[in-house]
Amino acid sequence: MQKLAQLDEGKAKKVFATDDPQLCIVEYKDDATAFNGAKKGTIAGKGVINNCVTNHLMQLLESKGIPTHLVEQLSERETLVKRVQIIPLEVIVRNIAAGSLAKRLGLDEGTKLERPVLEYCYKNDALDDPMVNEYHIMAMRFATQEELAVIANYAFAIDDILTDYLQDVGIELIDFKLEFGKTDDGSIVLADEISPDTCRFWDSKTGTKLDKDRFRRDMGGVEDAYQEIRKRLLGR
Ligand code: TMP
Ligand code: ASP
Repeated sequence: MQKLAQLDEGKAKKVFATDDPQLCIVEYKDDATAFNGAKKGTIAGKGVINNCVTNHLMQLLESKGIPTHLVEQLSERETLVKRVQIIPLEVIVRNIAAGSLAKRLGLDEGTKLERPVLEYCYKNDALDDPMVNEYHIMAMRFATQEELAVIANYAFAIDDILTDYLQDVGIELIDFKLEFGKTDDGSIVLADEISPDTCRFWDSKTGTKLDKDRFRRDMGGVEDAYQEIRKRLLGR
């Protein structure tokens, strides 16, 4: 597989074309941003950890029937994925109130929600990723009603699978963000990443934060938290 021209660069990853038009290569960076890029930094080793944690969790999801963009990991930082058109939505699932939901609804962080909450944000940095609902999404043609139903079903199924899996390694899945893409044949697959950058992971016993909130909130111990997640999930 030949790595060709860079197609795109985001805050945490670069995307490259390959000699197969259906495939591309994602390369994970150590760059970290928060608050839509207002805060910038580096988390040493993050790219390597997020690459292997994402692939590990995507393999788990594939084994449970969730289609993903994953093809194969190529190196510490690089993974071969299906080339998709990203649906411009951040799909957020929440089990416990934290972050922007706690703030918006005046809840203490850690408040258990009676049932999982699904939220959508329009992926648009210039607008600061505004929250949208199903009507906005259909009116803007970001996705059809049928596609949105598929996305919502996958999102809740992913929540169940990951919550169970993480419980066994002593991690509580507080909330997470997903992105989906459309392949050439129109089918929807999970894309992007599932990592401590895009999830809130709390130690089940102590409540210690093991995710990017340590960077967002200047809590220290950021690298250690990422390494702890890798250790619990991959055993190394
Ligand atoms: P929030 O509480 O800040 O809205 O974040 C909800 C979840 O989404 C949390 O697990 C972190 C993740 N997230 C991203 O992956 N990217 C983002 O840009 C934001 C704001 C949150
Ligand atoms: N996506 C946000 C940013 O780029 C980071 C975050 O809060 O996760 O600044």
